[in-house]
Amino acid sequence: MTAAGGTAGPGIAAARTTSAGNGTTGLTIETQGLTKRFGHQLAVDNVDLAVPHGAVFGFLGPNGSGKTTTIRMLLGLAAASAGTVSVLGLPMPQRLHEVLPRVGALVEGPAFYPFLSGTSNLHRLDAASRHAAPATRTARVAAALERVGLSRAAGKRVHAYSLGMKQRLGIANALLSPRELLVLDEPTNGLDPQGTREVRSLVRSLAADGATVFVSSHLLAEVEQICTHAAIMSAGRLVAQGPLAELRQAGETRIRLLTPDAGAASEVLLRLGMSPGRGTPEPDGDVLTAVAAASRLEAPEDIVAELVAARVRVRGFAVERESLEERFVALTGEGFDIAQ
Ligand SMILES: Nc1ncnc2c1ncn2[C@@H]1O[C@H](COP(=O)(O)OP(=O)(O)OP(=O)(O)O)[C@@H](O)[C@H]1O
Ligand SMILES: [Mg+2]
Repeated sequence: MTAAGGTAGPGIAAARTTSAGNGTTGLTIETQGLTKRFGHQLAVDNVDLAVPHGAVFGFLGPNGSGKTTTIRMLLGLAAASAGTVSVLGLPMPQRLHEVLPRVGALVEGPAFYPFLSGTSNLHRLDAASRHAAPATRTARVAAALERVGLSRAAGKRVHAYSLGMKQRLGIANALLSPRELLVLDEPTNGLDPQGTREVRSLVRSLAADGATVFVSSHLLAEVEQICTHAAIMSAGRLVAQGPLAELRQAGETRIRLLTPDAGAASEVLLRLGMSPGRGTPEPDGDVLTAVAAASRLEAPEDIVAELVAARVRVRGFAVERESLEERFVALTGEGFDIAQ
């Protein structure tokens, strides 16, 4: 795959020059109170998504948390039970016919004809799109296949494709025309580690070409590496969203202090808004731990300065920031599958 290479790919660059079409909000996707019920089950529960123009937006959550259902509603593939959706500044599904030609999408299991080749399948799908120019079809199909690394397998029948190859073909389908927004539901499903890396670099290059990318995943590591923003779903609810840096900041920070003056140290930490606790004592003194919201934490050097000013003998001091993974686990109550 030549994902990050010099080839321009199938027309993505053109998206850069087209209008973002995102109204006055600067948001490429916006939902308010988006809800989907299946019988008694709330698969998506009152979700307010805000995806800024130009973001690589990671839509995270464990299996069954409502990611695909949300994506289907964004694209007009499923009706919402309540709430509103706006994509590229236009209400969905009301303006679906204007919105969809500007959006490339990969949603669970695109329907391919198993006895046609990859190339033939893309030709058919492109021909089914009212907005795709027939004159450029052959070139666009070849460029899309090249961009996802399927050029050599392009003539093979799809029934002989591996899951990863089908996934790549689905991404190629999303890249057939210039797109302002790409919505990719678990694009690395079924890919081997090398394929996963290639898709990551493809997503980066698509974003660099000017597209907004909305990519769902239950793999935290993917989101951390490629996304500018993320949202976290848990049991149908949106439990956090924002720039990745802010999500990291929002976690807890723990300090660990080794001192023979535990009493005085506790008073200082309390005064600084931290909640001190005792760890296992060490030969050099008592171990105190204290937790604060990262956003409220004084600079470590200021904490040490306050301790020293109060005549606390500081024999050890460490700051341990909650990792993004720990934060996601705390928010969703579940582990994320990080290993490939
Ligand atoms: N057509 C349907 N009918 C009934 N329940 C459904 C339907 N589609 C989804 N659900 C339920 O809605 C919930 C959310 O499913 P969804 O597919 O959106 O999760 P997801 O976050 O995409 O999960 P995964 O990571 O496994 O893809 C699940 O409990 C699922 O069983
Ligand atoms: Mg899903």
